[in-house]
Amino acid sequence: MQIDNNLLRQQFAQAFGPGGRVRIIRAPGRVNLIGEHTDYNDGFVFPMAIEPEVRLACRAREDGKVRFSSTLFAGEVAEFSVDGDVARAAHGHWSNYPRGVAAMLKAAGIPMMGMDALLTNSLPGGGGLSSSAAIEVATAQGFLALAGYNMEPMRLALICQKAEHEYPKVPCGIMDQMIVTTAKIGHAMLFDCRAFMRKPIPMPPEELQVVIANTMVKHDLTGADGKTEYAKRREQCGMGVTYFKTIKPGIKSLRDVTPELVNGAQGKLDDVVFRRCRHVVGETQRCQDAAAALVAKDYNKVGELMKQSHESLRADFEVSCEELDFLSSEANKVAGVYGARMTGGGFGGCIVALCQPSAVAALIAHLQTTYKNSKYGIDPVVFATSATSGAGVME
Ligand code: GLA
Repeated sequence: MQIDNNLLRQQFAQAFGPGGRVRIIRAPGRVNLIGEHTDYNDGFVFPMAIEPEVRLACRAREDGKVRFSSTLFAGEVAEFSVDGDVARAAHGHWSNYPRGVAAMLKAAGIPMMGMDALLTNSLPGGGGLSSSAAIEVATAQGFLALAGYNMEPMRLALICQKAEHEYPKVPCGIMDQMIVTTAKIGHAMLFDCRAFMRKPIPMPPEELQVVIANTMVKHDLTGADGKTEYAKRREQCGMGVTYFKTIKPGIKSLRDVTPELVNGAQGKLDDVVFRRCRHVVGETQRCQDAAAALVAKDYNKVGELMKQSHESLRADFEVSCEELDFLSSEANKVAGVYGARMTGGGFGGCIVALCQPSAVAALIAHLQTTYKNSKYGIDPVVFATSATSGAGVME
């Protein structure tokens, strides 16, 4: 589905009145090919930006007020001011994303204008394709465009990550904001989350296609203590680091733990923490190996590593779910598919499959029919996507 900027301008004028200079920003969603739950452990990730995206139409206001609405949350207008401290909305309210971005840009010393803003999307919200980071980055670029300010993409990514930590209170890593701001068209990005080094790797469309299938489920696993499973995983990784430090004081994160060291901890370290660590250590290696195999055009190997990644996320890190297991294993049955796995944080959301171009139609049809005819009985959204560029001002 393509977003029509003329239609967006009309919707904007209906919501906020005609006139003035209206800017349009686009920010893509992302899919991670491999390297899951490694970013907050200083490891490697390998995402690319995808065709579904958000677009923000915005116009400056002189009174420091922000009026923000979104076709994702039709009929609601969030209002806040950038003159004083930016107020947080109730926990769980979507407007904490734009509010957080405004607050963090302010804290970074950016001269802030008020704005009227309308967000629209072809990227589903909450589907594990990083709609949150897309919304944050589009909002930030809107404020920057109105202030006539350019910002280096990684600085922007870090500001948006901080916004997500402090306003919606999601303790995310840097992968999503990094790829949404820096993606290169036709490429996936190998990113070293410790050194902050990026390496774009070509994804030749005549050789390789990426297919995404959405389970359409999101298992909300917030515990009685208010902690999400994501936050618990981060904590468990931290417990692992504490243990490994007692063995080797130089260890700062799971990135520093070797496979030998992690295997030696079996039986000594709490079993859950041990398995979390084993996933992260293995996944950091798989991610680098997959990027090297992609460069070498050894697509079978990339696919094998993707399958191993899924298995490790399912059994050791325990962030998969039945629906993700089902769709991944069905994808792996289709001729011409190199490999498939869950992608993103987990507990629902999407799988990603890498396949030969000639396999795309059969893969999409197979996933649609088998999922619909399974006990889940749901129509999944399944699509092929090319690797797109990072966020930017369109008009
Ligand atoms: C979410 C987070 C990312 C990353 C992934 C798991 O998408 O926002 O930072 O941790 O989960 O790889």
